[in-house]
Parts: sequence; structure tokens; C-alpha cells
Amino acid sequence: MTIAANVLPAAAEKRDSAQPARSLPAFTPALQRELEPLYERVKHVVTPMEWPHYAPLIKAINDLKVERNAVILAHNYMTPEIFHCVGDFRGDSLQLAKEAARTQAAVIVQAGVHFMAETSKLLSPDKTVLIPDMKAGCSLAESITAEDVRMLRDAYPGVPIVTYVNTSAAVKAECDITCTSSNAVKVVESLGSPRVLLIPDEYLAKYVQTKTSVEIIAWKGHCEVHERFTAEELEAFRAADPGTKIIAHPECPPDVIKTADFTGSTAAMIDWVKTKRPRKVVLVTECSMSSNVAAEAPDVEFVRPCNLCPHMKRISLEKIYDSLAMMQHEVHVDADVAERARRAVERMVNLTN
Ligand code: 13P
Ligand code: SF4
Repeated sequence: MTIAANVLPAAAEKRDSAQPARSLPAFTPALQRELEPLYERVKHVVTPMEWPHYAPLIKAINDLKVERNAVILAHNYMTPEIFHCVGDFRGDSLQLAKEAARTQAAVIVQAGVHFMAETSKLLSPDKTVLIPDMKAGCSLAESITAEDVRMLRDAYPGVPIVTYVNTSAAVKAECDITCTSSNAVKVVESLGSPRVLLIPDEYLAKYVQTKTSVEIIAWKGHCEVHERFTAEELEAFRAADPGTKIIAHPECPPDVIKTADFTGSTAAMIDWVKTKRPRKVVLVTECSMSSNVAAEAPDVEFVRPCNLCPHMKRISLEKIYDSLAMMQHEVHVDADVAERARRAVERMVNLTN
């Protein structure tokens, strides 16, 4: 099995000198025994050398969660020690949004990027929503502003606007409904309109266009991770071993999607691998997802053109610990924006429930 080196969080990460030192347990034989069930989950992708670094943080975070009545929502792109060892709910954007809406916990820690934390805050306005690093952004969310959407409204009067959840709350507030990569076709078709604006991901819009007769008008935003994949590199993997299956995320360019055996959201990609159990597979998406699936499917060989999302990778065990210990960094959404953005997100959630 091909296992890419796991991504060790920056151990020497700069800390604010005003922050108190982390109070972590020692990696004793007793702690090792206590965390053995968690190590079992990741032993195929986390080396025995890495574990003594992670284990004390994992123990401290899981204790803090109880103390704070907190849950951690972990996106599929988190590294395996986060995803499998401290995440309470794991999944794609849609699954995490639904969990945010139904959790009874007082505190939500979003192990993901800022737009996901904002979505959680919209759906759980009375909860404290924390993001371990405020700078965990997204190139798609950066590609469009609320002002741009107002300009589109004027340019296309009467045409409904669907926004991918990978946008700011301010952008969502200007749109009719949100979608994720797992429900975009369904959302577009639910509007009963012959033309729909689907923003901001040009490639997701092009993919949806291949699945519906509704005319899709796109924006020119791109995911900086998925736009880097090329059909040529994937064909080369297939040429090297013709049995290799290629599974792509719809944020990939159209020629990449054409090369793929299957296209779907991160959750759909995981389901595909778990049910089809291919001998060898390339997951054409953020690199950590292969490690997370490999942890549960050691019989499958993963080929890894390792494109990392620099925003997702800002989230580390250290920052999750700091987030819970110091209740930082709280996500707020302006009340007027929140009310309008919530309407767009709830409309999507209700449609897919
Ligand atoms: P999913 O909704 O498929 O998890 O995608 C979110 C994302 O950021 C993909 O890059
Ligand atoms: Fe945004 Fe792409 Fe990173 Fe997902 S992988 S958070 S779409 S930049």
C-alpha cells in the first residue's frame, strides 16, 4: 500500500507570548493504554513515532470537550489524528451543516475553514462557535463579494441565484438558496426556473450543467486545490496501471472530471471507495482525505497526487487545544446579514432533509 507521509502539524508553531503554556499530560504507559482504541483507528496512517506527540494533545482536547460541553465538527480534509481521534462529527460540508443545526452542545469547534464556521453559527445562533485559526479561508469564498452578487442581480433580473456554501455569510445573504457539492443539481432543479445563476465555482457550475437541462450561468471562481489537477497526470496514473480507478470532486476542471470514473462530493467519494473497494484508486481532491479513508480501508491502495489546502492545513491539534482552552476564536455574524443568510442555508437544509 502506498502511504504518503502524514502531515505533522508545525510543532514549532509561533505562539503569542501572552498565551498560557499548554497543560498536557505526559505520554505515560497508562495514557498509551487509555488511547489504544484511538490509535487502532489511525495505525495505518499515523506512525508509532508520531503518536507520542499527538496522544497527549488528543487526551487533553477530549477532556476539554467534556468540560466545555463542546463538539468538534471535522471536515473530511482534516488530518487523520484530528479527523479520527478528536472529531465528534465527520463529513462533507452538508453533513457538518446538518450536525451544526441539531447538536445539543453549548460550543461548536469547527475543524474546517471559516465559511463552514459561519454556516454553523447561522444554523446554531445561540451556540458559541469557535474556529481554531481565523485565517483558515478559502479561495472560492475570496472570489466573490456581496457587491458582486448585487451586480449580478441587476444584470440578470428575475434569475434565481444559488450560492455554493463556500462563500461568506454576506454573499449568502444576497442569494436565494445555498448548495453544496452533494446537492447542487437537486437545489438548481428545485427552483423551477429555466435559468439559474450558480456561483462562485465555475467548474462546479460546468459539472452541474452536464447533469441538468436548466441553463446555468457561472462565476469565475476556482478552488486553488482542485484547479491544479490535470487530465494528463491522471491519464498517466491509469496508463501505469490500467486497473486504477479515478474519483474526482466536482470542483475539478471539466477535462479532469471527464477522465474520472466517478465524480461526487467528499462524502460521496468516500462512500464510493468504501462500497466498491477498488484495488487501487486516486482520490482527486485534498490530500488528507486519502489518509482518512486509508485508515478505514487498508486493503485499498491510494495513489496520491498530494495537493494540500493551505487553509484546511492551518487547523492542527495544537490550535484546537488552544481554541478550547482559551475559548478562541469566536465566530460572529452581523444580525441583519445572519437573518438573510440563514434563510438561504435553511432552505437548502430543508430541501435535503
Ligand atoms: P464538500 O462539500 O464536498 O466536503 O467540499 C467542501 C470543500 O471545501 C471542497 O473543497
Ligand atoms: Fe476552499 Fe478549495 Fe480549500 Fe475547499 S479545498 S476550502 S474549496 S480552497
